Amino acid sequence: MSCHDLTYNGASTVKLTAGIDGKKGYFNVPTVYNAVYNFRQFWDGRAKDLKDQSLQPIANPVEMGNTVEKALQDLKANRAYVNAFNAIYSDGITKNNLADALSEFEKNTYYA
Ligand code: HEM
Repeated sequence: MSCHDLTYNGASTVKLTAGIDGKKGYFNVPTVYNAVYNFRQFWDGRAKDLKDQSLQPIANPVEMGNTVEKALQDLKANRAYVNAFNAIYSDGITKNNLADALSEFEKNTYYA
């Protein structure tokens, strides 16, 4: 993953990291390592936990520049993801389950 460079402490080597189409935001990229232990997420604390944070990069216009609805649509069009979500969640691919899956990924991937 490029934004939070796992070879660089899960942070970034530059002041402002480029997102979609090279767009830059206003905040330096913090490390994702041990983010699960943060009592709030983001520099201004606007997300209460990783589940609340996890969908925000998708819809951020200077990060992934997508919408959660479009991401869900794309996941539902992919048999492998449909099967993977159905194997874990009785109600399959939903906004809540995507946030849960991403935050579990973050919890179990980003720790040092
Ligand atoms: C285009 C890709 C991305 C860019 C440019 C980016 C950039 C950033 C920036 C600038 C922040 C701080 C924002 C603020 O405080 O308002 C942030 C926070 C965070 N990002 Fe990303 N991000 C990207 C993708 C992701 C992805 C895909 C994940 C996880 C799967 C992720 C996980 C996090 C977490 C957990 C935080 C909060 C860390 C903390 O509060 O200490 N980011 N990111």
